[in-house]
Amino acid sequence: MGRKGFTTRQVQGSGAVHATPRATPIYLTAGFTFDEFGDAAAHFGAGEGYAYTRIGNPTVEAVESTLAGLEGGTGALLLASGQAATSVAILTLVSAGEHIVVSNHIYEGTRGLLLDNLARFGISASFVQDIHDPAAWEAAIRPETRAVFAESISNATNRLLDVAEVAAVAHAHGIPLVIDNTFATPYLYRPIEHGADVVVHSASKFLAGHGAVIGGAIVDAGTFDAGSTLYPQLTERDRSGAPSPAERAGGGARLAYARDSVAPRLGPTPSPLNAFLIGQGIETLSLRVDRQSANALAVAEWLAGQPVVASVDYVGLASHADHALAERVLPDGFGSVFTVTLDGGAETARSVIEALETFTHMTHLGDVRSLVLHPASTSHIHLSDDERTALGVFPGTLRFSIGIEDAADLIDDLAQAFAAVSAPVELLA
Ligand SMILES: Cc1ncc(COP(=O)(O)O)c(C=O)c1O
Repeated sequence: MGRKGFTTRQVQGSGAVHATPRATPIYLTAGFTFDEFGDAAAHFGAGEGYAYTRIGNPTVEAVESTLAGLEGGTGALLLASGQAATSVAILTLVSAGEHIVVSNHIYEGTRGLLLDNLARFGISASFVQDIHDPAAWEAAIRPETRAVFAESISNATNRLLDVAEVAAVAHAHGIPLVIDNTFATPYLYRPIEHGADVVVHSASKFLAGHGAVIGGAIVDAGTFDAGSTLYPQLTERDRSGAPSPAERAGGGARLAYARDSVAPRLGPTPSPLNAFLIGQGIETLSLRVDRQSANALAVAEWLAGQPVVASVDYVGLASHADHALAERVLPDGFGSVFTVTLDGGAETARSVIEALETFTHMTHLGDVRSLVLHPASTSHIHLSDDERTALGVFPGTLRFSIGIEDAADLIDDLAQAFAAVSAPVELLA
């Protein structure tokens, strides 16, 4: 063949480069070439090799394997967002006509997913308010319950779950416990070590850490009982007659099914670029979370002594209802997201947010920067007053996510903001 035309050379010029980079390469490609004719059939038949990034990508898999190791799981699945991780985890386990038991102290996006979306697909949910009462979990479980779901450290008021206690209730019914470990991170708390079966994350938060990407992950403990009759999607062969997830993966059947049948069909694939950034974030996770936890404790202790502060819901403080449990299960720090309720209601909360300069006003958490949000008028706006009260969200409540700045600067900023709101009116004029 003679020399190819300009346009052909233009699109086909970049041949494969073989090198051994130390940092994880970003395989930013939709697909992968098949070397031999038979490789394509081996991929579609037995799932061998890489073919298409929605099904598998080396950059994504590098992050999955690191995260599975850090959480103590047997495998992980990276997804496009935390919401995607929660959706895929639940849809792997629960079918139409079935039921899920959920802590009432959860991220509002998860509540919306259950009540507004999954309810339309025939999946119902019961919410447990007193998360420390095993009888309340037991009472919520029905014959058609297929999963129990809770957050390790809960969004908003820092309720800390006794994972071992709730896992025992779920396991007595042959049901897995799914834990959203976003607030704790695997550095501070590893739910699988306490009996959880599945862990989900919003990787957008502490894992990525720099507020630049959205991502999510599922980590599985590999504890599926292949003899269970509750999950035919995991134990029975599908219409192709291929071996079932339990036949192929044994205790890893949940993750195999999520990876092969739920995530690629629904399609919330992470970009390899985002996967790379999440992987980079994970490399400094413990350093950031150490610093953030120390900063959060210093800020929370200072806040607790301020006259304008009615309460501080930080599990690191002795005043928090779950502090004794926290001392037992969180030896490396108490996290860095918590709420504070100010006297004076929404107006005081608004004035403090408007006066803060070092804190960023935004809806996010786990960032290296310190953030503040007013839940009653944002994340919790669609709840009734009674529902907000049950969650510890009041008109004067602020949610802080403490970053890695110098703690003294954060306290100075809060001090000047509180001084501005408590100054006599004539001084403000
Ligand atoms: C505890 C928790 N889980 C899940 C999510 C959803 O994650 P994402 O925003 O990455 O979809 C969030 C988001 O704020 C969260 O706080």
